[in-house]
Amino acid sequence: MSEQSGNGVALVTGANRGIGREVARQLAERGYEVLLSARDGEKASAAAAELAEGTGAVVRALTLDVADPASIAAAAEQVQADPGRLDVLVNNAGIGSDFGVSGVDPDFDKIQAALETNFYGAYRLTIALLGLLRKSEHPRIVNVSSGMGGVAEMGGWSPGYRVSKAALNAMTRILSTELAGEGFLVNSACPGFVNTDMGGPMGAKKPVKDGAAGIVWLATLPDDGPTGGFFRDGKPVAF
Ligand SMILES: NC(=O)c1ccc[n+]([C@@H]2O[C@H](COP(=O)([O-])OP(=O)(O)OC[C@H]3O[C@@H](n4cnc5c(N)ncnc54)[C@H](OP(=O)(O)O)[C@@H]3O)[C@@H](O)[C@H]2O)c1
Repeated sequence: MSEQSGNGVALVTGANRGIGREVARQLAERGYEVLLSARDGEKASAAAAELAEGTGAVVRALTLDVADPASIAAAAEQVQADPGRLDVLVNNAGIGSDFGVSGVDPDFDKIQAALETNFYGAYRLTIALLGLLRKSEHPRIVNVSSGMGGVAEMGGWSPGYRVSKAALNAMTRILSTELAGEGFLVNSACPGFVNTDMGGPMGAKKPVKDGAAGIVWLATLPDDGPTGGFFRDGKPVAF
């Protein structure tokens, strides 16, 4: 193992900008060694250097396109080789490929794209890293979902995004159940309507740091924390 922090190693996907970048920053601030991943390796390197600069934090860049199974396999192999440890996985990478598209006039290519990144990407990556997470004494998985994926209160429009996040929430339930006896805490988080490249154009005003805080809370839960839940700002949301 290379450099080690007191709190272990955390991998965040889609962490070159937006909520993922801020989650990476907050985890580094708490003493985690952060594997800051992005599909563009140069952007990952730039963001990792910016976050680490002058802080003493260990933030390492990792190239990872979650929509590409080969990229997932290569990244998992790299993490297994160095640092050879993983305690926290934050599946944050996401796209809104069909915001505002009508469910009665769907674009199936856009639905497929949303599923590839938001659902298959998170699921494939989790399974690729499960062996390492199983070696952790306190494994945590946070799936960054959305209230738009809650079936109980689901409305219309944006079918690809909604279905992909509902599927991600189902993955949270399935894995939290099957891994319950192994010390895992697996939860979904809705960051709220946050002022990022994704939320900003639609008028979101919530600061990025506040949207990230509820995700970091789930990533750093104590052993008696919840599992199989869906939370926004630390409060339960209907699945
Ligand atoms: N903002 C909101 O109001 C809001 C509300 C509810 C849920 N969320 C969820 O929160 C998460 C983060 O959203 P955000 O607001 O920070 O969005 P954002 O500003 O658009 O950032 C999205 C991030 O995901 C990355 N990404 C996209 N496709 C990827 C892929 N195939 N592989 C790896 N990374 C990929 C992007 O990388 P590139 O720079 O390479 O594109 C970027 O780093 C998403 O899952 C989103 O659905 C956001």
